[in-house]
Amino acid sequence: MSLLRGERLAPQPREVAHYTSSIQHDVEIAREVVKINLAHVVMLAEQGILDRRTAALILKALSTAEPASLMDESLEDVHMNLERYVAEKAGEEASGWMHLAKSRNDQVAAAIRMKLRLKLIEAGLAAIALRRALLEQCKLHVETLMPGYTHLQRAQPLTLAHHLLAHHDALMRDTQRLKECYTRVNLSPMGAAALAATSFPVNRRRVAELLGFDGLVENTVDAASSRDFVLETLAVASLAMNTLSRLAEEVVLWSTSEFGFLELSDEYASTSSIMPQKKNPVVAEVARARASRVYGDLLSALSMLNSLPFSYNLDLQEVTPHLWNALDILTSTLRVMAGLISSSSFNVERMAEALGDGFANATELANLLVRKGLPFRAAHRVVGFLARRMVEQHRPLSSLKALEVVEAAKELLGQPLSLTDEEVRRVLNPRWAVEACTVEGGPSPSEVRRMLADRFKAAEEDEGFFLQLRRRLEESDEDLLASVKVIESNVEVA
Ligand code: ARG
Repeated sequence: MSLLRGERLAPQPREVAHYTSSIQHDVEIAREVVKINLAHVVMLAEQGILDRRTAALILKALSTAEPASLMDESLEDVHMNLERYVAEKAGEEASGWMHLAKSRNDQVAAAIRMKLRLKLIEAGLAAIALRRALLEQCKLHVETLMPGYTHLQRAQPLTLAHHLLAHHDALMRDTQRLKECYTRVNLSPMGAAALAATSFPVNRRRVAELLGFDGLVENTVDAASSRDFVLETLAVASLAMNTLSRLAEEVVLWSTSEFGFLELSDEYASTSSIMPQKKNPVVAEVARARASRVYGDLLSALSMLNSLPFSYNLDLQEVTPHLWNALDILTSTLRVMAGLISSSSFNVERMAEALGDGFANATELANLLVRKGLPFRAAHRVVGFLARRMVEQHRPLSSLKALEVVEAAKELLGQPLSLTDEEVRRVLNPRWAVEACTVEGGPSPSEVRRMLADRFKAAEEDEGFFLQLRRRLEESDEDLLASVKVIESNVEVA
């Protein structure tokens, strides 16, 4: 007779059982499910709901359960597999008590949250590793000039460090979101049972404590059937993948011969089966595409939860694999991108060449005219006129003479200007322009150095945060084992 279907339902055809089983994805949460059962049984014994001898028998059996032995599909899921396992080890007399005052509904929600918190820590640490890889490159390139782009057209000079720091800062915010997400994930649904709790005097806070949760999902309907923590995580993962996709895209673009700004190390490139000269940026390409898979996971989960009535429905089971998929993609992408960034080299000469014609300094030329008394819009007009003429004449803006500017201002505005070649040459020098932008957050080396010192410190603090979370979880694992021992030591179990 089937453990679960019991006297109520006839057996299912194999195909139907396969269709509705979650076993394939329960591998992710098998260890957590064992811990939850340990904590629950400890609590039942401590509360006097379950006699200590029976509790000790169950705990002993649970302690030997390995995920691989919990994967029989005909039993629907890992939860029923574990119950059968305990029945085989400890006898049905004992195992029959294990599921008192709990349900698979609160249990699966708790297990997902427990596994998810580990994955959030992993993702957070991987994000910090990539942040550090970017910061180390920034350190090398505080003085490296390059054009900044808007519309993918050369816009204004800045430094490579300033540009890479923008990617870093986006990733720093992604890390913050992972941290904040953790606080809403690490809450215990246990004690909710199916939806309406139980008339047995369970101690929800004790189970939460034994499992390393920071508190409860209080309302038991909410506890058993909410998955907004999954949506939140998927949204956070999607945002982080969006950051990564923009970085990956620039790696692809910059490693083209046309740009030539970035040289990938061989490990992060592949070649062609027919064109022997090729060095393709495949890691960055895959990263770019994987972002879309994570957005798909978010959208799938949103659709599944859309209009879903409270409380538990088996639709919820279909949401979970999207969570694991998204986090696996996020963490692996963060890790490979960290390696890619650290091992890449930047072509400083090519970047300088891209600024050589002086056009990226046009804004500073206009600013110079403003300093000479023109309103900005008028100065913009004069420089726009000169830029057009120089492009038509195939001349670099850097060859501009003061007299040409003075004549243009006269012709367009009827306004006299006093200007020297030296003044014009100065503002058309990209290094001067970058050094002059000392505004808070600007590209000047002094300001970028200040930001770098600040970001290195932030990375250190964020790392401390995640490592402390990990330590707390390890400690709660030890506390759980110790509490199991206490129950076992009270009775002689053969
Ligand atoms: N396997 C389910 C899940 O992953 C948990 C079991 C809930 N089943 C049920 N009939 N209430 O969500």
